[in-house]
Parts: sequence; C-alpha cells; structure tokens
Amino acid sequence: GAPVEVDVGKLAPGEMMTVEWRGKPVWILRRTPEMLASLEKTDGKVSDPESDKPMQPGYAKNKHRSIKPEYLVAVGICTHLGCSPSEKFKMGAESGMGADWPGGFLCPCHGSIFDLAGRVYSSMPAPDNLEIPPHQYLADTTILVG
Ligand code: FES
Repeated sequence: GAPVEVDVGKLAPGEMMTVEWRGKPVWILRRTPEMLASLEKTDGKVSDPESDKPMQPGYAKNKHRSIKPEYLVAVGICTHLGCSPSEKFKMGAESGMGADWPGGFLCPCHGSIFDLAGRVYSSMPAPDNLEIPPHQYLADTTILVG
C-alpha cells in the first residue's frame, strides 16, 4: 500500500479524523492540554505505559505515544480480535461514559478500554496498545502515514 499524505491543519483541538491506510482506519486525534493531562491519570491503569513492547516504533515509546504530543496517530483496530473500538475521546459526561471518563476508546466486542494515547487498560482482553503506524511529518501539519 502507498503512503497516505494527510493535512491535519484544519483539525481543531479535541477533534479527530480518520484516514485509510492499507485498508486500515488510521485515527488522528488532536489532543487538547486537558486530554494530554488525562494521560497522567490513566498512567497507573494501563499495562504498558511507555509502550516498551518491541513492535512499537521508537516515537511511540513515551507516555503520549506520538512524535508531537498534540497529535495521536493510531490504527483504529482493537489488538484483541480486530474489532473497531468506539471513539469515546470526548472527556467526561460529553462522552456518554459518565462524568469521570478520562477520554479514550472502547471496544464493543469484548470490552477492552484504551486511553487517549491508545494504551490498553490492564486486565483487558486486548494484549497490546493500539498500533502506531509508521509516519512522519512532511511539514508542520502534514503527516505522511506509511
Ligand atoms: Fe476488542 Fe475483543 S476484539 S476486545
């Protein structure tokens, strides 16, 4: 599959877009400072907080799992059996998940929960954090996925 060039310049803080790469949905979430702060709260709930597992690209091996903290670029496919997690990235009551919800993604198939960095909560059926696809910045708001 060919790499996909994405202009994220129009993405407002707190918004997400989906592009297709190699037949897979790739989510790009522009995180607000509050969303990034939520990763401190979920840090103790996730099983691989620094993405130490070897299949992650180097730039995913940090708490925010991205090249630029603001932009999460992740494959929107559950690492358990490949369902599509629901986009519950809004924080708090706006998500429909309750006032305490820190934002994240919820897999409808077997209930795996991922935070706003795509990090899987501990003791979930999904074994791994969401995949970070290979990508790079061609310009300030232009991402090449693949
Ligand atoms: Fe997502 Fe099973 S496929 S939890």
